[in-house]
Amino acid sequence: MLSILVLHGPNLNLLGVREPGIYGSTTLLEINTSLAALADKQGARVETFQSNHEGMLVDAIHSALEFHHGILINAAAYTHTSVAIRDAISAVKLPAVEVHLSNVHQREAFRHHSYLSAVVLGQISGFGAQSYYLGLQALLTHLQQKSFTDASAS
Ligand code: DQA
Repeated sequence: MLSILVLHGPNLNLLGVREPGIYGSTTLLEINTSLAALADKQGARVETFQSNHEGMLVDAIHSALEFHHGILINAAAYTHTSVAIRDAISAVKLPAVEVHLSNVHQREAFRHHSYLSAVVLGQISGFGAQSYYLGLQALLTHLQQKSFTDASAS
């Protein structure tokens, strides 16, 4: 069964109350519940984890190597600052998709650069909670196609 690690970075525990005009009113629990349902419909599973601490996110990425096939990540503010999270994704070599609730490219200049974009399959930004659902779908489709290709080759 395909297993996806979903990582949420700093301040995303406050979704629902945090600047709803920018991030929407859907809570993190609601997003996680919807992701689990979406994965379940496709015979996959998700494990979700939120941390406000960079090193905890790095540790979680390392642990994915043993337990998961791919990573869906909203690194939040660490997107724009963290070489450590970028290196961790690069090190484990698992397919990853970067998501953002807001359209980071329409916001302040410091949000336009992502340290993660170069080491992920792609970025989905600006669709609110839907960014996560689209990102999960993209990751599952990628992994399903990959396992089909691998199986055909062997
Ligand atoms: C965010 C965008 C980041 O710039 C910001 O620091 C966040 C959330 C988003 O989902 O839109 O905390 O990743």
